[in-house]
Amino acid sequence: MSLTVLSHPLVQHKLTILRDKRTSTRSFRELLRELAILLCYEVTRDLPLEPIDIETPVAPMQGRQLAGKKLVFAPILRAGMGLLDGVLELVPAARVAHIGLYRDPNTLQAVQYYFKAPVDVAERMVILLDPMLATGHTAVAAINLLKDRGVKNIRFVCLVAAPEGVAELDKHHPEVPIWTAGLDERLNDHSYIVPGLGDAGDRIYGTK
Ligand code: URA
Repeated sequence: MSLTVLSHPLVQHKLTILRDKRTSTRSFRELLRELAILLCYEVTRDLPLEPIDIETPVAPMQGRQLAGKKLVFAPILRAGMGLLDGVLELVPAARVAHIGLYRDPNTLQAVQYYFKAPVDVAERMVILLDPMLATGHTAVAAINLLKDRGVKNIRFVCLVAAPEGVAELDKHHPEVPIWTAGLDERLNDHSYIVPGLGDAGDRIYGTK
């Protein structure tokens, strides 16, 4: 299992403001966008490059460009959408797959209600986006959906992870690496991350 917790001071600073319950919806959204850019920078760190011949105004040279098919960002609705603008700012040519899953409040299991991905998603690297890795049920279900469509190269990006969610992901999909800005203590009785940041969807969209 691969788990990368971003220790960069800018990431930790922004995450702390984001967690603060006094932070407004507007600031929360803006910080989430900034954190998404920083997380995207890390998760794409080892993407393969290929040589390309170009000419600068001064001389010909061999540059390097991203190799292979364009990335797919896959936000899990609805909170995952909060990370999408930031990652697309860094990789504007990427494709997007929308995955609609909600957590049944009684069983805590993930229920699918929407899935739309590029037709050739199986040939691309997919970066799954969800701010919170709590029980891990939603992430596991989203990865199952992607694997059902033949996707082999999947990475998972979240803002805050609980040890329980990391363990669940590792149990079902040990080859999927995880990037997060924070690894928290535990889940509470309602499966919220402690200390966490509350309900990410509500904080992004101001619905509570
Ligand atoms: N989803 C959230 O939005 N917050 C949590 O703490 C757990 C799941």
